Amino acid sequence: MRGPKHVVKRGKTPVLAAEQARELLDAIDTSTIAGLRDRAILAVMIYSFARVGAVCSMNVAFRTEATPAYYQLLMGLDKYGECEFDSTANVISYTLPEPVPARSMDDVDKGQLAYYGICAGCHAYNSRMIGPPTQIIQALYMDNPQGIADYAANPEKKRPDYPEMPPQSHLDEETRLAAAEFMLQVKR
Ligand code: HEC
Repeated sequence: MRGPKHVVKRGKTPVLAAEQARELLDAIDTSTIAGLRDRAILAVMIYSFARVGAVCSMNVAFRTEATPAYYQLLMGLDKYGECEFDSTANVISYTLPEPVPARSMDDVDKGQLAYYGICAGCHAYNSRMIGPPTQIIQALYMDNPQGIADYAANPEKKRPDYPEMPPQSHLDEETRLAAAEFMLQVKR
């Protein structure tokens, strides 16, 4: 980053005039994140100096130019347009005249949804989570989705090193079977 070419002296204390401040800020390469950060920090510093009475010389230097529009310009905020509306009263919405019909799901959708939404919360495909891996269950139940569905509705304690599986009887029978079928064919 390049500094301003010269610093104006007023009285004994060197101060940055507004143009120099602008020049300083413009010298920062804002195409990088670091540059944007530097410019923001500098702009805030310059702005603060102009307001904090303790930094008297800076205060004097800025008092003449300090209008809100000037600071917006200084901080690069002048590129933002005015907000054109202040309420949503006149916003046109595109609500359809008729409600969209409910989406009907076939069994595949249902099973997939239940499996990923519920079973997969405890069963990962090939690693131990809260429950045993799906791969193990696939090996145990191969052609028996009904067996899975029944177990899920009414699980019994089987493995000493796993917690008990909570019953999934909140799902209807059809959904449990669909989830079981999906569980048997899922491949990862
Ligand atoms: C809150 C966690 C949890 C959820 C959700 C869950 N399970 Fe389980 N599941 C377990 C645990 C823990 C075991 C091991 C229980 C045991 O061995 O005693 C298990 C075991 C099983 C078994 C093995 C039964 C056997 O004979 O060894 C099947 C099949 C099964 N779950 C199916 C499902 C299905 C289908 C769903 C989704 C509808 C599901 N689970 C959802 C935790 C869960």
